[in-house]
Amino acid sequence: MVKPTTLMALEDYAVPAERDLRREGGVSPGKHATSSSRRDGTAVRTAVGVVDRCPERYHRFEHTDRWADSHKARIDTRIRQLIAMGYHGDASKDLTRTRSVIDMTNPATQELGKAMPTIAAWFKLIPRAVALDIIYDPEKGRLCNGVVLDEESIRWFKNIDDAIGIRSRAAVLRELLLHEADKSGCIAVASLACGAAQPVLETMAELLRDGRAADSSVTLVDLDRESLGMAVRLADQHGITDRVTTVTGNILSLNGIDIAPGPHLESGAGVGYDVVEALGFLEYLPPENQESYTYNGVVDEKRSRAGAVVFLKNAYDLVKPGGLLIFGNMLDETHKQLEFTLNTVQWPHIQPRSIKKMLQIIAAAGVDPAAEVDIYCPTDGVYAVYAIRKPCVQK
Ligand SMILES: C[S@@+](CC[C@H](N)C(=O)[O-])C[C@H]1O[C@@H](n2cnc3c(N)ncnc32)[C@H](O)[C@@H]1O
Repeated sequence: MVKPTTLMALEDYAVPAERDLRREGGVSPGKHATSSSRRDGTAVRTAVGVVDRCPERYHRFEHTDRWADSHKARIDTRIRQLIAMGYHGDASKDLTRTRSVIDMTNPATQELGKAMPTIAAWFKLIPRAVALDIIYDPEKGRLCNGVVLDEESIRWFKNIDDAIGIRSRAAVLRELLLHEADKSGCIAVASLACGAAQPVLETMAELLRDGRAADSSVTLVDLDRESLGMAVRLADQHGITDRVTTVTGNILSLNGIDIAPGPHLESGAGVGYDVVEALGFLEYLPPENQESYTYNGVVDEKRSRAGAVVFLKNAYDLVKPGGLLIFGNMLDETHKQLEFTLNTVQWPHIQPRSIKKMLQIIAAAGVDPAAEVDIYCPTDGVYAVYAIRKPCVQK
């Protein structure tokens, strides 16, 4: 893949030693290529055995957050104090990572409420995508349910690492979409678990405004009608509704993702989407299929649903030959405020993982061993974003 300008190799990715994802238990640069020169295919042991797989490439992603400001150091210190309080005094409880609701009796969570008087209103939106609206644009100053935020809350949404990470993963997506569009002239995108779809819609609007990819289109899929409604309003604000199709549906069916198979492409290129993206979703899925599935406020059902492995396989099937599958996962090794997210905010269902574990899931999903895997690591260390290029010629 030709690299967009801000995407660089990971070799000089400076992370604190104790959180270095390249140490034991993380990704070893000895086993995995860090430069694009090693494209020879290497035998890699995975959850499904030994396969000949193209080694993945790592890219450091420089991101200067537009909202982080002089309050960050003070807020970071306060967050370290909240982390030290653990969860009901015992942070090890979080290791189950099965929490599905926010426990407001937790002392650290109550302390957070004292710092931010209107935070309880935001808690009510979590984990739905409507909670992300204020993160994408803290200057709005009010939640999508109309609650006006106090000044300190706005400062926190500007400066906490999670918010910065959500914005930097969106910035990676933007770069990748712009690059694909510039290469192909126009792109058909499927956005799975799109939520209010700010990252993909803002980028499509940018492309269409600049006349760079006039025939591009996006199919937005989510179960949450309110989030999809916000997406439609955003598309309308940008004047791009004619480029947007919305689908209300469950993307965790075991049999595949039930949307149109993507536009017909030029003769011989096959059918599928140029880009399928599912940012902000993999961290809610265990690897294996689930007997039932709950996403608070959106769906709670007792039917068998796909885990991360089957979901990735189904999403990959929607990509045209030569196209890209893009997704992210919260990191458990470089995220400096992970315990704040899990123990204080208690964002439900979250399954942070190492890049190494994610690569095992990708391999188990049966992704073509000849597929190119690029991993983008924003310098905040909160998420990694994965881009898998489906080979043009299928084996
Ligand atoms: C954290 S949001 C991410 C939104 C968006 N991709 C972004 O990065 O801004 C996760 C989204 O997944 C959606 N979701 C959860 N389970 C789903 C399912 N089984 N099928 C479809 N959407 C689902 C939720 O409604 C929510 O909008």
